[in-house]
Amino acid sequence: MREQLMERAVQVLERNYQEGGFTIPCEGLYPFQWKWDSGFIALGFAYFDMEKAKKEIETLLQSQWENGFIPHIIFHNDSDTYFPGADFHQSHLHPQSNKNFPSTGMTQPPVTGFVLERLLEISKHSEDMIGFIKKHIDKVYQNHVYFYEHRDVENDGLVYIYHNWESGTDNSPIWDDIWDTMNPPEYEFERRDTSHVDPAQRPSKREYDHYLYIIDIAKKYNYEDSKIAAHSPFLVIDPLFNSMLIRSNEALIKLYDLFGGSQDKVDYLKSKQAMGIESLNSKLYNKELGAYVHFDQRNNKQIPYVCSSSFAPLYSGAPTNQQAQSLVNTMLAKFGDEGRYLCASFDPTHDRFNPRKYWRGPVWINLNWMLYHGLQRYGFEEVAKQVKADSLELISKNGFYEYFDSRKDNPDGPLNGYGGNNFSWSAALLIDFLNENP
Ligand code: DGY
Repeated sequence: MREQLMERAVQVLERNYQEGGFTIPCEGLYPFQWKWDSGFIALGFAYFDMEKAKKEIETLLQSQWENGFIPHIIFHNDSDTYFPGADFHQSHLHPQSNKNFPSTGMTQPPVTGFVLERLLEISKHSEDMIGFIKKHIDKVYQNHVYFYEHRDVENDGLVYIYHNWESGTDNSPIWDDIWDTMNPPEYEFERRDTSHVDPAQRPSKREYDHYLYIIDIAKKYNYEDSKIAAHSPFLVIDPLFNSMLIRSNEALIKLYDLFGGSQDKVDYLKSKQAMGIESLNSKLYNKELGAYVHFDQRNNKQIPYVCSSSFAPLYSGAPTNQQAQSLVNTMLAKFGDEGRYLCASFDPTHDRFNPRKYWRGPVWINLNWMLYHGLQRYGFEEVAKQVKADSLELISKNGFYEYFDSRKDNPDGPLNGYGGNNFSWSAALLIDFLNENP
């Protein structure tokens, strides 16, 4: 079974790989290169085609802006199967944008640092990979510098996101309270996502109005970070985004230490790292909930709901052992019911939970992959094993879907897989799960 699954996963990645040297998340629904998808995808390729793994990262980094920013979508090609495309986003408005690669003017979680570290492990420290990382690591470093110099408004080592699409958890119920503070116009546009996927599994039209409106505000200010920080109605400190930044910092520090000769960069990252960890634990940790939560920087308050991002700090190593234990207790109490696969994307005991709708409840393989490694990091071997076994079962029973119903007895069944099919990161991370301990 392992061989069959591996073979199918390899096929998914091969089919989604494009001539331009990047891999689409899936056909039709997502026809371009996405930033965090790229990182996870590279890990899958690394086990059977290292050239493609390197190309994926290289192509992503080519899209970097002069200020170090790396966009969330890079529109390498034309496609009329996706909205909103390059003509809506207009990245050229920013004076330092990359004029060779039309893109969005927003970013996505910074996974590239820890991906480089894992590529090195998978390659068993090959000379070739060392050369590749040495050639590209400064670009990733510059991306982190961009975050700290432009998005750390409180100078506390935590960086803001200004759009829900930057979080990666697009339509999480976390954002509902923020939508209540806004009243965007009713946009007229043609949805493309709902022609590929059942609308019951996607965000609503009214949610899209909010998404477009925030982009319009950013465009009004030519995507200038300080103006966005001053005016965007959405300004959030996200535990998932910041955990990935912290974990990627850790990876960059380790890699620079290994190669030597970059003490200034190591010192910079270490000072940001120490502040970031301290602030994550003071600003985002919610003791009553036993979980990290999002912080609404615009309205200066925590958003007190538990979702899978709440446990992502385990992967960063930021929590104390006591906090880590509380996280696991909360995960098992709220998400770990016997009838459920771990780990739903939103609190299944909450009335905003929706088992079928994108980031409002379904299980996502990339979050499970990070939780697995985070749980292992703190020695929670049994729960880690369960997260991995659940991930493998969901894929082997249903296929390489984008997300999955967490209910084992799914009354809407028989299929538990939702969203796009033949989804690249589900395939890539399954490959990593099956081959781990490289
Ligand atoms: C979408 O279009 O839903 C994407 O996830 C945005 O990143």
